[in-house]
Parts: sequence; C-alpha cells; structure tokens
Amino acid sequence: MLIIKNLSAGYGGPTIIENVSLEVREGEIVTMIGPNGAGKSTVLKSIFGLTEIEGGEILLHNENLIGLKTSAVSARGIGYVPQGRSVFPSLTVEENLFMGAYIRSDKNKIAKDMEYVYSKFPRLHERRKQKSRLLSGGEQQMVALGRSLMLHPQLLLLDEPSIGLAPKIVAEVFEKIQEIQRDGTAILMVEQNASMALQISQRAYVLELGKNKFEGPGKELLSDERIREAYLGVRKK
Ligand SMILES: Nc1ncnc2c1ncn2[C@@H]1O[C@H](COP(=O)(O)OP(=O)(O)OP(=O)(O)O)[C@@H](O)[C@H]1O
Ligand SMILES: [Mg+2]
Repeated sequence: MLIIKNLSAGYGGPTIIENVSLEVREGEIVTMIGPNGAGKSTVLKSIFGLTEIEGGEILLHNENLIGLKTSAVSARGIGYVPQGRSVFPSLTVEENLFMGAYIRSDKNKIAKDMEYVYSKFPRLHERRKQKSRLLSGGEQQMVALGRSLMLHPQLLLLDEPSIGLAPKIVAEVFEKIQEIQRDGTAILMVEQNASMALQISQRAYVLELGKNKFEGPGKELLSDERIREAYLGVRKK
C-alpha cells in the first residue's frame, strides 16, 4: 500500500536521508530500527509532509504523496503519532480524542469512533474527564494512539511508541498495536525496543546514517548475528 522509493529529504540544510526505500503491505506491521540520528523519524515526517523532499517517491496505493499538506495526507487515511507523547496536557482525555477528528466533516460519526477507541482502551473511558497531564506515561501514550485512531487510518505511523515506559506497560502498548493491526490498520513504526518490535513485525528495515542498511522479515532480522550484535546488545559467543 505504501511504497517509498529512493527517497532523499532534509530540513532545508544538509541531506538527512538518502535514497531510502521501503514498503508497507496491506495489514502489515513494519518496523524501522537504527541508531540515534539515523533518520528514522525523518522518514515518517517525510510521509507526513513535514520535511523538504529532495528526490524519490512516496506512493500510497500508487498515488503520489509528495507535495501534499499534512491535512491532505491525514485525509488519505494516514495517522501519525510523533515521537514523545503528544497529548494536549491541559485538555481532558475526551477532548484530546476529539482533536483527532478535527479534519472530519461527518461529525455524527465521531461519537461512534469514540466508542471504538474506548472499547480498545477501557482505561481511557474511566479517565475521560481527567486532564491529560494527570495521566501516567503509559496512559498518555494510549491517548496519543487513541487520538490517531479517530480517523480510521488505513496506515498508522508510530514514532517510538514505547519510549520511556515501564516494561509491563511496553508489553501492553505492543499488545494494543497488534490489536489495531488485527482490526485492519497497517503500521509503520520506529522503535528502540528492537527485540520486541521485531517479534511482532512482518518485516523490518535497519537504517544507518540516513541510508538503508538491512531489511527482511522481523523474525529473520531478530536472529541475524550482525543485527543482534549491533542493535539488540547480544554479544558474539
Ligand atoms: N527539524 C529539524 N531540523 C533540522 N535538522 C533536523 C530536524 N529534525 C531532525 N534533524 C536532524 O536529522 C538527523 C536525523 O534525525 P532523526 O530525528 O530523523 O533521527 P532518528 O533516527 O529518528 O533518531 P532518534 O533515534 O534519536 O530519534 C539528525 O542529525 C537531526 O539532528
Ligand atoms: Mg527519532
């Protein structure tokens, strides 16, 4: 569904990613891993129209996304949860979720979508009147995820969904991501927690210094010596 071909992009200065190619097929979870500064977030931002594209292609079902505004990318069914929990701290949980539907015109369906989000995240329903800044880190990540689901995305871009969360909560977030996949949304995520992310990924890409380094099925990369050493902290025997 999403094909990125030889993408080069930056922020108006030096080229940050160079000739990056990747693909997300219908219903897949695809993960990007790689060291800090490799350009992983820049790839996601490029899809969402937040970088300066220098070359290459970004196609969603064969339609070019380059040059579209962020709102036009959302309108095509791409949701984006940026790095760092992006909730509006002074708004309640429910108000945050409403914000996720801001570009929609079919206001009468919003209540139904809210129900869907609450069914995924019952804890958010319990806390719906609470200001988001009073929530735990894990709950805030659930709000950010829930908000992105308000648009029924066909593809969800997640930048480090598990960062800074306790191991038990990380497991819960990954469980939710798999549920979202089962409901029919494809996912392209960036994760530092490489071993857990690769386990649930159909395919994965390793980025280094703004370029593709390795790619393959998640489980294959998980057992690849080079990747285990460099990214999973497993030493050679
Ligand atoms: N808004 C920006 N303006 C200018 N340069 C930027 C901007 N955002 C990121 N960069 C630069 O682009 C490079 C790649 O950053 P990016 O955030 O894509 O890396 P990353 O792989 O997501 O790293 P991390 O794992 O630390 O999140 C870095 O050198 C960074 O300094
Ligand atoms: Mg990043």
